[in-house]
Amino acid sequence: MKRKPVIAIDGPAGSGKSTIAKLVASSMGFHYIDTGAMYRAVTLKALRKGTDRKSEPALTELAGSTSIGFEYGDGLKVFVDGEDVTEAIRLPEVSKASSDIADSRGVRQALVRKQQDMGAAGGVIMDGRDIGSVVFPDAEVKLYLDATVEERAGRRHKELVAKGIKTDLSGVKRDIEERDARDRNRPFGALVKVKDAVTVDTTGLSIEQVAARITGIIKEKL
Ligand code: DC
Repeated sequence: MKRKPVIAIDGPAGSGKSTIAKLVASSMGFHYIDTGAMYRAVTLKALRKGTDRKSEPALTELAGSTSIGFEYGDGLKVFVDGEDVTEAIRLPEVSKASSDIADSRGVRQALVRKQQDMGAAGGVIMDGRDIGSVVFPDAEVKLYLDATVEERAGRRHKELVAKGIKTDLSGVKRDIEERDARDRNRPFGALVKVKDAVTVDTTGLSIEQVAARITGIIKEKL
């Protein structure tokens, strides 16, 4: 039987992927899979255990022995080995350390396999960096969300302030620039704009405007 469609959304940090993916998933009846949360989950566990983030064998072992779960209900909850880590994985120190974890070949292999299993039946919107290029290169719809670094830093800063996390805008911008460079240059699973992806620049657009545009593109493609 033919699987249901897979919608792949890639783009840099703060481009609005997860907000939009969540909205479009619920309005169009897709299942949302946040792959960044999976890298964050392994990162949190590595930080807590004091795992050497440069040791490939240690990271491979860690990824292989970590169970990651999602729970859908009133918002998306993320679990690591049964513990609710929804809030903890969003802390700035986890964001920062996640680039090391995402560089690991062993971690990527383990998580990509898990993502492919989760999306095997289709009917999913999956967001990340390598979804249209590595995880589902045959996705029915591929989108690339972008925005200027100033806009992305502004959004992240607002989110953190709303959560009561103290940060300054210039620091957030610097972190995003660093993460962009790491995302674009890693040897496996780097952030790339694949040829068959439709690019949507979200700079200056409201969430509703982006969601409407993305919904239109998906309907047209399917
Ligand atoms: O999208 P995010 O900020 O939650 O992603 C967290 C980290 O995981 C970030 O360092 C990029 C990385 N990542 C990745 O390498 N591949 C993905 N498919 C998703 C995220």
